[in-house]
Amino acid sequence: MAKNLEAPTTLLPVVAAALVDGDGRVLLQRRPPGKAMAGLWEFPGGKVEPGESPERALVRELAEELEIVVDPACVRPACFASAALGERHLILLLYVVDEWTGEPRAVEASGLAWVRPAEMRALPMPPADEPLIDLLARLMA
Ligand code: C5P
Repeated sequence: MAKNLEAPTTLLPVVAAALVDGDGRVLLQRRPPGKAMAGLWEFPGGKVEPGESPERALVRELAEELEIVVDPACVRPACFASAALGERHLILLLYVVDEWTGEPRAVEASGLAWVRPAEMRALPMPPADEPLIDLLARLMA
């Protein structure tokens, strides 16, 4: 069915990180049971709160979800995607992060996995995350 691009909608800004390790692998987390889209693998991140910059939101989300510390000056914009989410429309901004302090820990997620972009295609991901795989792969090539 064609998307109705004229329909009014509320935008939901969401930020996420491609945390890249020294071997070119990227960290994905699995959404836990009981949450929307449970079982899907996503780039760690979440909603930008009112009054917050996207970079600050990303640093906060990474601290909350993975218990790592990231310098906001070290997050690099990479690519974005958008997807309908019920009545709203999610705008997902993906940043590359390759410097952090601490060992990522699954605080909310049911699992973490370090995967190469080519391997991500085999994992079920939320609709806004999936189109970012190819864009990220190109940026990392
Ligand atoms: O994690 P949080 O509830 O703050 O995420 C806000 C919304 O963004 C949720 O609907 C979640 O499914 C979506 N999201 C996403 N991809 C991500 C992170 C969050 O689609 N990588």
